[in-house]
Amino acid sequence: MKKLISNIKELIAIDDDARLLVRGKDMSELKTIKNAWLLINGEIIEDYGAMSDFNEDILGDCDEYAEIDATGKIVMPSFCDSHTHIVYAGSREIEYSDKIRGLSYEEIAKRGGGILNSVKLLQNTSEDELYEQSLERIEEIISQGTGAVEIKSGYGLTLEDEMKMLRVIKRLKETTPLLIKSTFLGAHAVPEEYKANQDDYVDLVINEMIPQVAAEDLADYIDVFCDKGFFTVEQTDRILLAGIKHGLRPKIHANELANSGGIQVGVKYNALSVDHIEYTGKEEIAALLNSETMPTILPGAAFFLNMPYSPAREMINAGLPVAIASDYNPGSSPSGNMKLMMSFACVNYKMLPEEAIYATTINTAYAMGVSDVVGSITRGKLANLIITNDIPSYQFLPYAYGSDLINSVFLKGEIIL
Ligand code: NIG
Ligand code: FE
Repeated sequence: MKKLISNIKELIAIDDDARLLVRGKDMSELKTIKNAWLLINGEIIEDYGAMSDFNEDILGDCDEYAEIDATGKIVMPSFCDSHTHIVYAGSREIEYSDKIRGLSYEEIAKRGGGILNSVKLLQNTSEDELYEQSLERIEEIISQGTGAVEIKSGYGLTLEDEMKMLRVIKRLKETTPLLIKSTFLGAHAVPEEYKANQDDYVDLVINEMIPQVAAEDLADYIDVFCDKGFFTVEQTDRILLAGIKHGLRPKIHANELANSGGIQVGVKYNALSVDHIEYTGKEEIAALLNSETMPTILPGAAFFLNMPYSPAREMINAGLPVAIASDYNPGSSPSGNMKLMMSFACVNYKMLPEEAIYATTINTAYAMGVSDVVGSITRGKLANLIITNDIPSYQFLPYAYGSDLINSVFLKGEIIL
């Protein structure tokens, strides 16, 4: 049965041209229709328009349809969250206090805390238990309006435990209505036993993990934490090359802690995205301008770790696209709330609400390789939609940063919430 959403106060982020990303000053121009309707046929957005142009012929050859009245409400594409680590075990609120006392992310990591803390927890958690814990987070982000999510491995750091994480992601792909992409992040941190021989761990990632991950078709992308104190540009280069040989396009953590050269090595290998990028200057912007790589900011991590902010305005003013993802993980961003990320984007990065909407929908869809099927209100795309509560305007969404404001959620044309 078709579904008609009628009397929509404002239908936003419409893209008749099906652009795969939105860049530069186009990011401040949002196409909307006030007092609109939208027709869903199965999983797909069939058509939309203004109520003043609506007539029964629009429904086509269907005898019955369900009507959802959206008077006073805004309809928008679901959020796409192109960077998360939501498959993890337990939590790390103990480090929260250490951070408040003044320890830096790197200091916590050096003491065997940080990522390695989550690694220990994950290695001692069964695959089923890991799935259950992750499923709860999936349900949480669905209720917050996310319709597509990328999930990384990287808390296993042994062949067996990385495979365990990737199998959990695969199971989530099969059992939840979210559109999920999976990224292999074996090079997330150096395990304790390899501290003196970091290159031996890089060899393990290249020679054993990548071939096995590829053989079992468990990942769509490859990631490396390329930064001061983690993996060098040279090591990143080797790992990305090995991943590409096995059909895995890069999407990397870069320039979170220093001007590490991560952005350039990402661009060199045509990464789909370079993420974090707090340390981005003129050279990095120039490299990105000649690329197909999406600069992706993770405002939750910068907020939570009290880090410098990535220069979003300079990037947009230079003509670049910008994406905003949550980085949902137990150490640097224990939240996957994309509406909150929009608020951070506006307040901390001086992005306009229009720019924040594109950055959390179509541009993140591009950054996870799904912008041909989701990320905008476009005929033929999946009906992954948010219907808001009664609100005065779309700008109210990032403005009212602590309010939920989500009335219902459609995923693949079905009402989920
Ligand atoms: O994206 N920067 C590297 N990795 C994660 C943090 C993971 C953790 O602390 O557990 C991030 O912030
Ligand atoms: Fe991350």
